[in-house]
Amino acid sequence: MNSIINNIEIIKAKTTKINDVDFDNLKFGHVFSDHMLECKFKDGEWQAPKVVPYQAINLDPSAKIFHYGQSVFEGMKAYKDTNENVWLFRPLENFKRLNISSKRLAIPELPENYFMDGLKTLLQVDNEWIPKKDGSSLYIRPFVFASGNGFHASPADEYTFIIACAPSGSYFSGKVRVLIEEKYSRSANGGVGFAKAGGNYAGQFYPTQLAIEKGYQQVIWTDDNTHEYIEEAGAMNIFVRINDTLITGPTSDRILDGITRKSIIQLAKAEGIPVEVRKLSVHEVVTAAKDGSLKEMFGAGTAAVISPIAGFGYKGEDFDLPEFEDTYASSLKKRITDIQTNKAKDPFGWRLKV
Ligand code: PLP
Ligand code: COI
Repeated sequence: MNSIINNIEIIKAKTTKINDVDFDNLKFGHVFSDHMLECKFKDGEWQAPKVVPYQAINLDPSAKIFHYGQSVFEGMKAYKDTNENVWLFRPLENFKRLNISSKRLAIPELPENYFMDGLKTLLQVDNEWIPKKDGSSLYIRPFVFASGNGFHASPADEYTFIIACAPSGSYFSGKVRVLIEEKYSRSANGGVGFAKAGGNYAGQFYPTQLAIEKGYQQVIWTDDNTHEYIEEAGAMNIFVRINDTLITGPTSDRILDGITRKSIIQLAKAEGIPVEVRKLSVHEVVTAAKDGSLKEMFGAGTAAVISPIAGFGYKGEDFDLPEFEDTYASSLKKRITDIQTNKAKDPFGWRLKV
């Protein structure tokens, strides 16, 4: 039956797909929940969001998303604790970043209540889709794209905001080996690297395919100017541990300001781990790998959580990271996931109950 929650109209799906889903063997982003939030921008303003059945989108071939790539997205997760309470992790950060990305791509910014109330309503309607199993969560993908038409290379006059959800397991299967990039660039000063723009990912696919052919899963991007400094990976920020110090590069025009990254920096400092946010050269990492002071490398992101890096390639040479217990990656992963899933106190006020 259709209804209204939080002032948002809900049009219920006639049937559910949930019984076809194997919640014990979830891949990442492969099956989608029964509903989605949809909201249109037309006549100069965002129209009221609605929860509707998850469905295909009808677009004109001249829709500007296809030609000029005006599209931005976010990645978030909803977690269910043992008492079936539902939690989001720092959702306002995702909302703010979506609008930062939109502004850079000349997409109209969304009102906060459309995003937050829309998201909470969707999660209430699709509550059963939020996995309970440890290590699984409901991956949430808010996105905005140009649904207005025309071949003129200018911003569209209509946009669509959708939130779709996928019950998901881990992003990577197995150990991650990365290739430090020497030729291609993900972003440049003055560009859109800091935005979660769809095109940033399209531009990474070809170099990443080349890396996969060589046996790596991800590329570590280096600065476009000199290729001497480590920036981030395709879907996560990068941390390096040299001796006891945890180092990550500063965010900039070229790097996504990851919510996991900034949470990890705060958590590590609170644990008494020495943390340095500074430029990190490939030379320094290679030297540390050779002299044994390179202890750990890991990626941090919503989808990837904290993914330890087993080794990296650079200029035709391969380097392995040491294997040992009690890594920063494992302790920080436990700290952050315990907070996200309401297993531990939340001293920073990051959790939001839905
Ligand atoms: N860097 C890139 C390019 C990403 O796609 C992501 C994923 O969202 C991240 C970093 C990590 O950001 P967050 O921790 O906010 O998910
Ligand atoms: C996320 O971590 O949420 C992301 O958006 C990365 C994505 C490319 C899978």
